[in-house]
Amino acid sequence: MRRGDGAWGWLSRRASVEGAAREAPEDEGANGTSEALANRLDRNLVSLTSPDSEAADQYRLLFHRLRRAEMDQGECLRVVAVTSATDGEGKSLTAANLALIAAGERVSERVLLVDADLRRPSLHGFFGVPASPGLFELARGEVTSAVAVRSLKGCGLCLLTAGALPGARDVSGAMTGAALERVIGALRQDFDAVYLDVPPLLSCADGAFLAGVSDGALIVVRAFQTSRQMVAQAVETLGKARLLGCVLNGVEARRQGGRG
Ligand SMILES: Nc1ncnc2c1ncn2[C@@H]1O[C@H](COP(=O)(O)OP(=O)(O)OP(=O)(O)O)[C@@H](O)[C@H]1O
Ligand SMILES: [Mg+2]
Repeated sequence: MRRGDGAWGWLSRRASVEGAAREAPEDEGANGTSEALANRLDRNLVSLTSPDSEAADQYRLLFHRLRRAEMDQGECLRVVAVTSATDGEGKSLTAANLALIAAGERVSERVLLVDADLRRPSLHGFFGVPASPGLFELARGEVTSAVAVRSLKGCGLCLLTAGALPGARDVSGAMTGAALERVIGALRQDFDAVYLDVPPLLSCADGAFLAGVSDGALIVVRAFQTSRQMVAQAVETLGKARLLGCVLNGVEARRQGGRG
């Protein structure tokens, strides 16, 4: 099992966007960004709302460290899973900001952010778009990816929301691992970079499964909340999935000797 070499980035506490296929023409403004869209964004999507902020800088640093790892190892990290040990550590925010940076840097032509946390989906809320149709309907073959994937105007990013879920307890029964794997495999063909917002590793089996079908996983660790033991357990849970590194979330960058 290959392991990453420690923390990738330190995200500031001062650490918001919308809908490749499907667009929302009414949202488009004269310069390609939309006032309606901007009003719906979560303010913590700093990579888009405050690109010059210290927090956005930290996400940029994280993105470039991943790029560097790709170049050093001569391989492509096309599908990256963002997970954590437990709930509320900042997975969704990290995945969204990382994908926004990737789309903004235009290193990859087509960048997709996927809400694969079917227990606690949140990306539709961050971007102010409906949750459905999304991954759930796509995995069940009820819609095509052209219908399920939204193109977010003004930020070059595509979003696959979680979909209309039948309730947390029914999630695993409603969608098989094979169906999920098939969908991720197809998205891998259609996009140059895919960022998966994945459930926590210690809460359910989906997290490790999704990390396993990705090219590598980032573990987000909420500072002053998650114990070393929990992080160690989470790493263990990854099994043969590749750990790319850990992201320490919720500390001021200057505490870590960062800028600003
Ligand atoms: N660096 C940060 N700066 C400011 N707020 C943050 C930061 N990281 C996380 N948060 C806030 O903490 C909450 C949890 O973040 P997020 O939804 O990204 O975590 P999560 O790990 O995806 O949670 P869940 O397990 O519920 O899916 C959100 O309200 C988010 O806005
Ligand atoms: Mg989340």
